[in-house]
Amino acid sequence: MIEIHQVTRRFPQQRRPVLDEVGLKLDRGSFAFLTGASGAGKSTLLRLLYGADSPDDGHITIAGHNLRPQDARALAMVRRRVAVIFQDFRLLKTRTALENVRVVLELRGVDRRLAHRRAMEALDDVGIGSLAKRRVPQLSGGEQQRVAIARALVGDPQVLLCDEPTGNLDEALSLQVLGLIDLASSRGATVLVATHDSEILRRFPHPTYHLEAGKLERRSG
Ligand SMILES: Nc1ncnc2c1ncn2[C@@H]1O[C@H](COP(=O)(O)OP(=O)(O)O)[C@@H](O)[C@H]1O
Ligand SMILES: [Mg+2]
Repeated sequence: MIEIHQVTRRFPQQRRPVLDEVGLKLDRGSFAFLTGASGAGKSTLLRLLYGADSPDDGHITIAGHNLRPQDARALAMVRRRVAVIFQDFRLLKTRTALENVRVVLELRGVDRRLAHRRAMEALDDVGIGSLAKRRVPQLSGGEQQRVAIARALVGDPQVLLCDEPTGNLDEALSLQVLGLIDLASSRGATVLVATHDSEILRRFPHPTYHLEAGKLERRSG
């Protein structure tokens, strides 16, 4: 589902590439963690996978499509198939929980009533259907991350990328959030979660890939 071939990414003023001929293959429905110290390149690798940045060398395929950020069709494909969850949630702050989820479907041209119904179902799935009409600032951090998960899952993504999704949550909420992400993978999404939360790594025994000095290495699983 995700294939990364010999990918190198350098930034100006850095002596070594952040990613140095990195390779990774994740099958459909698999779940893997991406670890590494702060600054190791985890977010850089994820950005390449959702088409927000492009490699200097090497290439990436998602569901068999070669991902070239200059290629508008490839990018449109990525937006349909790949969902992302961030540490800081990135919700529309003046909107309600429901509006934040519904907008994904509306942007795809889904009929308003159907979008409404599916967004409600997605909020119910993550346990916050009763908060659908609340605006984002009236939700706790854990509730906001659930909205972000509902938004990520409402479009039935084939790939779910998570960049430190529990970085702003306490331990109990972190485990709940990971449980929801795990559920997405059991429904067939290919999931890659960047984290350095040792409790999560201990509780969810999935393969772990570790980034260090530009190299990606499998650690466990
Ligand atoms: N757009 C950019 N321009 C220059 N340097 C960058 C850019 N993005 C990331 N970096 C550098 O690349 C390295 C890896 O960053 P990042 O991928 O954010 O690490 P992580 O997510 O593992 O903490 C850091 O040294 C960071 O400063
Ligand atoms: Mg990061």
